[in-house]
Amino acid sequence: MLRGFDERNAAEREAVLQICVLTGDAGADATRTLVGDDPDPLTERWAAPYLDLEPRFALLAQAAGRVVGYALGAPDTRRFAEQFRDRPTTLTPEERRQHALGLVIPEVDEYPAHLHVDLLPEAQGRGVGRRLVEGVVARLKAAGASGIHLVVDPRNTGALAFYPRVGFRELRRDEQGVLFVRA
Ligand SMILES: CC(C)(COP(=O)(O)OP(=O)(O)OC[C@H]1O[C@@H](n2cnc3c(N)ncnc32)[C@H](O)[C@@H]1OP(=O)(O)O)[C@@H](O)C(=O)NCCC(=O)NCCS
Repeated sequence: MLRGFDERNAAEREAVLQICVLTGDAGADATRTLVGDDPDPLTERWAAPYLDLEPRFALLAQAAGRVVGYALGAPDTRRFAEQFRDRPTTLTPEERRQHALGLVIPEVDEYPAHLHVDLLPEAQGRGVGRRLVEGVVARLKAAGASGIHLVVDPRNTGALAFYPRVGFRELRRDEQGVLFVRA
């Protein structure tokens, strides 16, 4: 079952942050890569700001009453990057500035929206990712976004195979990432 994120539900927020860590190393569990067991460098870049700044574009996948995945999106990446830079968090101002700079890719005006999709291993390979992508794309489109992009870690072979199957095409790749776009 897919549904919108409930901002008042702290447990739901925590579930999203946990999934961010459990899928945060090129699609695999990032727990062992955390410095001092601190999840914030991951979650404060890739999950929490989307829940706080763009909750309308947060979709959750639920199974047996448990959150097993999510799609997060931002319709206007330039605006999101500015808000990210100014959002108080455990990241330092310089870390926020650097991350915000990285969000504004050269193609951002043609593909202004961006998204993330992550599912726990048990929920993968059953069409949930496709449904999450379609759900968040519909919301981004309804908000007026003319194009969508996302960047995939080149080591993430599952995601590299997935996005072309759900309407995205590869635009360019380098050692930092593979850029996919959808008009
Ligand atoms: C990548 C991910 C979002 C895909 O979601 P999913 O629910 O597993 O994928 P679906 O079942 O909806 O598959 C949709 C299509 O992509 C293909 N696909 C999905 N994962 C694939 C994989 N690992 N290898 C090959 N093809 C794959 C499916 O075969 C299917 O193709 P078809 O419908 O044309 O036959 C999910 O596996 C995931 O969350 N992985 C871990 C986190 C991650 O890597 N997130 C992306 C970060 S950029």
